[in-house]
Amino acid sequence: MKYAVLGAFGQLGRDLCPVLGEGAIPLDRTKVDLGIPETIPQCLDEINPDVVVNCAAYNYVDKAETEPSDAMMINAWGLKKLSQWCKTKGKYLVHFSTDYVFGMDRLRKSPYRENDLPGPVSNYGISKLAGEFVVGANCPNHLIIRTCGLYGVWGSGGKGGNFVETMLRVAGQGKPLKVVSDQFCTPTYTKDLALVSAFLIKKNAQGLIHLTNQGSCSWYEFARAIFELGQVEASVSPISSVEYNAPALRPGYSVMETWRAEELGFSPLRSWRNALSDYLVERKIKNRNG
Ligand SMILES: NC(=O)c1ccc[n+]([C@@H]2O[C@H](COP(=O)([O-])OP(=O)(O)OC[C@H]3O[C@@H](n4cnc5c(N)ncnc54)[C@H](OP(=O)(O)O)[C@@H]3O)[C@@H](O)[C@H]2O)c1
Repeated sequence: MKYAVLGAFGQLGRDLCPVLGEGAIPLDRTKVDLGIPETIPQCLDEINPDVVVNCAAYNYVDKAETEPSDAMMINAWGLKKLSQWCKTKGKYLVHFSTDYVFGMDRLRKSPYRENDLPGPVSNYGISKLAGEFVVGANCPNHLIIRTCGLYGVWGSGGKGGNFVETMLRVAGQGKPLKVVSDQFCTPTYTKDLALVSAFLIKKNAQGLIHLTNQGSCSWYEFARAIFELGQVEASVSPISSVEYNAPALRPGYSVMETWRAEELGFSPLRSWRNALSDYLVERKIKNRNG
């Protein structure tokens, strides 16, 4: 099996390609640029993969408030050509989406299921939800995996970055941190997500599936856990979303149930705390080895 992986050099792509195995063909945006749809058939016709896995995305949640068309181009319109190509050639298309398709239900306090109505509150969330529709409408043989709060070891060095690394960097500079305490989700380790995603892909799973580590926390609680498990001294205090005043609105609660993956035979991923603990060890090993 040949797997063409778009966005292969992002956090998730870097963990997914190795578990897909020898058939994985990592593609960066010099090969397929979702902002330049002509590059899609140019590259994929030549590779002729069995499966196309799209890990590429416009992920700048705040910037999308001022540049919505860039977000829409990469997260939605660019997928039209991709999904049409897959349909025409009879290929299986796997796409990743986000918990940020939720948020409009401000009173929500129980995990979202795949059949719950989405309602995004940001341009990024709208663009990702539009992308889900574009994939679903154009390519019947598809899998959409919605996930949440990603961090992966690649983000711990080089050009990367993620919430865990930002917390550790700022704490290392001795600066006090204020972290939002009224947004609840499930931070997810890309290594865990990649492993189960690869299984789902190899099973030719269909439709929409939520996949995250287990449990939930606020970003403030997550920051506290990073410092506790990483044994790092830090001054961190809670702040409300209103006080923090980020350009984009975010869901107050976007925890997702993962029962569909379990129904397909997968045990729930480990808890977010256990995954974080493992990440904190692995990032050290990676940074020591360069
Ligand atoms: N990060 C999160 O917290 C989070 C949460 C929920 C869902 N997700 C979803 O999970 C998936 C993977 O996220 P991630 O954290 O691995 O993202 P990431 O690290 O930002 O990687 C995204 C990749 O997409 C590539 N890309 C950007 N624009 C492109 C374009 N026009 N054409 C082709 N490639 C392009 C980037 O390449 P360059 O390096 O060249 O820009 C990068 O390699 C995405 O669908 C994302 O929406 C992420």
